[in-house]
Amino acid sequence: MSSEKESKALAVINCAQLVTLAGPARARVGPELRELAIVAHGGLFVRDGLIERVGTTDEIEELVDGETTVVDAGGRVVLPGFVDAHTHPVFAGTRVDEFEERSQGATYQEIAARGGGIQSTVNRTRAATLDELVATGRRYAEWFLRGGTTTVEAKSGYGLSVEDEIKMLRAIRRLGEETALRYVPTFLGAHSVPLEYRARRDDYVALLIDEILPRVAQEKLAEFCDVFCEEKVFTTDESWKILSVARCHGLGLRMHADQLSLSGGAKLAAELGTVTADHLEHTDAEGIAALKAAGVQPVLLPGSVYALGSSRYPAARDMIDAGLAVVLATDFNPGSSPTPSMAMILSLASTHMRMTPAESITAATINAAYSLNRGAQLGSLERGKIADFVIHDSDDYRELAYFFGIEHPWHVYVQGKLKHG
Ligand code: NIG
Ligand code: FE
Repeated sequence: MSSEKESKALAVINCAQLVTLAGPARARVGPELRELAIVAHGGLFVRDGLIERVGTTDEIEELVDGETTVVDAGGRVVLPGFVDAHTHPVFAGTRVDEFEERSQGATYQEIAARGGGIQSTVNRTRAATLDELVATGRRYAEWFLRGGTTTVEAKSGYGLSVEDEIKMLRAIRRLGEETALRYVPTFLGAHSVPLEYRARRDDYVALLIDEILPRVAQEKLAEFCDVFCEEKVFTTDESWKILSVARCHGLGLRMHADQLSLSGGAKLAAELGTVTADHLEHTDAEGIAALKAAGVQPVLLPGSVYALGSSRYPAARDMIDAGLAVVLATDFNPGSSPTPSMAMILSLASTHMRMTPAESITAATINAAYSLNRGAQLGSLERGKIADFVIHDSDDYRELAYFFGIEHPWHVYVQGKLKHG
């Protein structure tokens, strides 16, 4: 752990590649995704948790005085901390039993249909206390940080009742206060229709709209609202209702769309002008064009495709070529994507989605930050931004997508303070 005092300045020198992602103050599209704005033999000067100067090592060394802590990156690569814009990081228990069944051929949908899947995590999460959820959440926060992720979007959605959804969102708030990881909370009460409402689903939609959403908004427990829009989960009509009410409460909108079938999710996202449409494994050319016209950011989640044993990855190349500001995220959750590793996601994007390592890094940093309304503070190494950065144990950023199954970070800094390494 670092011993530097808060008031002290920090200089990072000898970065073989300082991957700044400096550029226009908006999410990057088309060929811009390949422009990482790398400073060779670079350095950073940080004061009070903010980036004060970005330059070459020589330029940064000139700023060093007796009060400055100097970190020698030793010829390694330095990147902004990953911003993971789609995670479900609070839940009780695991689903290793279902995982084992799936290894023998059972499908995710079959398991969900018999009351397993999301519902089995709901049962355990309802039985857990707030403290228990925070305790398991801390373990996952450590995993994110040691993988080089410094910000996560965090969804509720395993409570599915007034008190249990509030409990989950309070756990997310506490994790943000008590760990070094930064959390952006999203209300996902529309993750599944809970078992006790399956015969009267309209009542659950009414509960979401009339009771849970107003409480969430009143207590300011979430910045975004998400819906799992899927034929057998929430229909496009139900999704429209829930998201329209969420918007009236001042929440930003996100959507799980076209994950398991082409169910009109992308088109609805475009119609509503949501901030993001996530998954999109089954989205067609028409859906892509609609997202483009509406300026919706796609959040692609190859970890869930991989972990469900599917080969249907989203059409990232078509989306980038169409001018969409693509984001990559882990979808960390106990069912379809039990990985917190952004490096794994970069690997999958290059091997299965024809994204270059540079495009993947842009999608996992600055574009992700814009999708969370944090583009002015996070996602790139530029003067005035928060000093969340990672020194990776490599001298070439492409190795992050190339060597897979290992953790690359050497040192992880959040707001200029060493938090891992
Ligand atoms: O993004 N698609 C819905 N939600 C998650 C799965 C959550 C779970 O299986 O627990 C997802 O894949
Ligand atoms: Fe998800």
